[in-house]
Amino acid sequence: DGELCLSRSLVNSSDKIIRKAGSSIFQHSVEGWKLNSSLVLEIRKNILRFLDAERDVSVVKSSFKPGDVIHYVLDRRRTLNISQDLHSLLPEVSPMKNRRFKTCAVVGNSGILLDSECGKEIDSHNFVIRCNLAPVVEFAADVGTKSDFITMNPSVVQRAFGGFRNESDREKFVHRLSMLNDSVLWIPAFMVKGGEKHVEWVNALILKNKLKVRTAYPSLRLIHAVRGYWLTNKVPIKRPSTGLLMYTLATRFCDEIHLYGFWPFPKDLNGKAVKYHYYDDLKYRYFSNASPHRMPLEFKTLNVLHNRGALKLTTGKCI
Ligand code: CTP
Repeated sequence: DGELCLSRSLVNSSDKIIRKAGSSIFQHSVEGWKLNSSLVLEIRKNILRFLDAERDVSVVKSSFKPGDVIHYVLDRRRTLNISQDLHSLLPEVSPMKNRRFKTCAVVGNSGILLDSECGKEIDSHNFVIRCNLAPVVEFAADVGTKSDFITMNPSVVQRAFGGFRNESDREKFVHRLSMLNDSVLWIPAFMVKGGEKHVEWVNALILKNKLKVRTAYPSLRLIHAVRGYWLTNKVPIKRPSTGLLMYTLATRFCDEIHLYGFWPFPKDLNGKAVKYHYYDDLKYRYFSNASPHRMPLEFKTLNVLHNRGALKLTTGKCI
């Protein structure tokens, strides 16, 4: 019936079961991995029934005018005003229109990347997607530096740039964005209430410094459509994580998708500690009920897809 039908066991998956089994159930081999092109096409077709990433990756200028009031996607009672700055940064057309790539990398932020020596391999892909403005320069050997598309949750302003409290925080931010040149900067501004002033500050800095970065703001329907796709395929996620969102979008543009930095577990397969992020000391949150995500379940799903040749998941060293 055209459904992906990942695996029977996924129907009963829960984070609890996964936690009990431990990360050892996720053994997968990269040697002998082979792309299954017909499965890739089938997945692309099925996802297209829920969303068209080319369109849903960003709202466009003609959808709104300054002063329009919209409801937050995950908090319908709360509203946001489309400011002049925000409106002026909306793209005229989708930044992903007609863009197709043979190979893409989606880079998650797990500490599993440390000592991976994957930098060169990641940078060798035609299109590199990164998450949450993660730093790269100091970690280039392990994570590479190429960024064609990078996401930025509004909370990053607080978490990594001191809430822009002083000039040096703002300078650091402007410097980070200027390194992106004309890559796509993807800001989920309409998801939940709370980050609107951060989004406004970011927009103002981009305009003031005439940064070349191409801003994109995901459509109001994207997150529900992505969740709908996975639920229909019997993967009971809560809210898709940025990493899963990026894989789902990438299926539209990329023939071969390689994932790095996906490992939502505190230990590797040899029992060695793994940091949540490769670049800071944030603690693990994905097993707590408070977390909006189900990263271990997402990982399990991606692992199934790896074993079926739909994507390639690298969690070890790149050689
Ligand atoms: N990730 C992972 N294992 C980790 C950390 C991250 O698999 N230990 C993946 C997840 O898919 C995550 C993505 O990498 O969405 C980017 O990581 P991060 O920036 O830490 O995402 P969060 O802010 O934790 O979550 P969100 O998805 O809400 O952005």
